[in-house]
Amino acid sequence: IGTGATMTLTGCDALDPRGAISTVGRVDFRNRLHVPPLAEPVRRDGVTVFDLTAQVGRSAIVPGGDAETWGLNGALLGPTLRARRGESVQIDVTNELDEATTLHWHGMHLPAAADGGPHQMIEPGETWSPRWRIDQPAATLWYHPHPHGATERHVYRGLGGLFILDDDTESALPLPRRYGIDDIPVIVQDKSFDRRGRLVDTSRRDNGMIGDTVLVNGTAGPILEVTSQLTRLRLLNASTARSYSFGFSDDREFSMIASDGGLLREPVALKRVRLTPGERAEIVVRMDPGETTTLRSYPQDLGLSNGRSRSTGAADTLDVLLLDAAGRLDPSAALPARLATIAPFDEASVAETREFELRNNRINRESMDMNRIDDVVTVDTTELWEVWNGHRQPHNFHVHDVQFQVLAVDGSPPPPELSGWKDTVYLPPDVRLRLGLRFTRYADPDVPYMYHCHLLWHEDQGMMGQFVVVEPSQEPGDLGVQHSH
Ligand code: C2O
Ligand code: CU
Repeated sequence: IGTGATMTLTGCDALDPRGAISTVGRVDFRNRLHVPPLAEPVRRDGVTVFDLTAQVGRSAIVPGGDAETWGLNGALLGPTLRARRGESVQIDVTNELDEATTLHWHGMHLPAAADGGPHQMIEPGETWSPRWRIDQPAATLWYHPHPHGATERHVYRGLGGLFILDDDTESALPLPRRYGIDDIPVIVQDKSFDRRGRLVDTSRRDNGMIGDTVLVNGTAGPILEVTSQLTRLRLLNASTARSYSFGFSDDREFSMIASDGGLLREPVALKRVRLTPGERAEIVVRMDPGETTTLRSYPQDLGLSNGRSRSTGAADTLDVLLLDAAGRLDPSAALPARLATIAPFDEASVAETREFELRNNRINRESMDMNRIDDVVTVDTTELWEVWNGHRQPHNFHVHDVQFQVLAVDGSPPPPELSGWKDTVYLPPDVRLRLGLRFTRYADPDVPYMYHCHLLWHEDQGMMGQFVVVEPSQEPGDLGVQHSH
């Protein structure tokens, strides 16, 4: 479709298959979707070395606008990092902002000192060079800043990107995997702009900022030209507070093939998938030649009482991405019936059970303290975490270092979309989740990992705790903020 094809509708009564529906603003589908470039690492002594520089730039996101944005190796967002299981990687992260930040590898299993949480601050002008060996299944992970108290602002301004992991299991399956062609990053964020097109970051409500403009990979009103029968969308909710219930404007079914930590056991046919901030889903959508459909976020039930759901945007209908299929499509292999093997969680091996209550921007009545270790976990053990939201606000729960299994939602087995590896999960009010976690390999008594609500304003307000992983009989160390050298 040409650049002249512009649809502008307001309100949710029109049912144009091309979409362009938004209950909070206008959507003009007229920009080709930007696909973040794949980072080009260099190989040095058996290590794959990536370079990322956090910098200030300017972006014209809305027509005629001129926004100050932050990006990595560019003005907005960053390149897609990609590595294979077994590979050793090093990321040289240089901070050219005029304030300190960090870069956290969300979903990654790695030593705590390489995690990029609030203890690995990178001062302006400095370079931080974590190194680790990729040792987990193929997955769509991501990276973003994590400076305590400022994570929401740093992510909202544009720092973040995808970190795709590959492995032999995934590579052997007939899945769409041509990056930017039939395997598409879909980084979804909501932002607000003033009349001059500058980012507004002061419209914060109870749960943080809810924007009125949805961007994909930094593009407003994005169009994806579909050239294959099957297209794999790697959906990432990189919003700071908004949850999405993704589906298509014509209600077509899609197949979900992966959650946060990798492939599901088998493709799951769905019409909606909810992603709260930080969560990912890989979905595969089939299109016929010449047709269009729109990836849409539908109104959703977050389990909140009426008065509370207004500040979450849960009632909004938002069109996100127009998919426009070419007149002739490349053939795609049928999706395999089986994807990955996920061993059932072994409850008999649980060494420790912990309980976490999220309430009033606190976890277990404590507000985040950089100098306090909340939990000490023994390496190579299995734990059960009972997590619940004792509050009338939406929260979710993210744990660093591990991919966990959701064992039960209020005592019942989880729905299929929560049946695979997860690192972030929605926590409706009054609901109790039972999570199974296994902590392997990396012990360091001196450097903690985080768990927290991934609504970033809540996290910044203190809804975060710290755990260290230690060798048996090792004592946790003394914490203090460590600076890069
Ligand atoms: Cu996506 Cu602790 O973060
Ligand atoms: Cu929260």
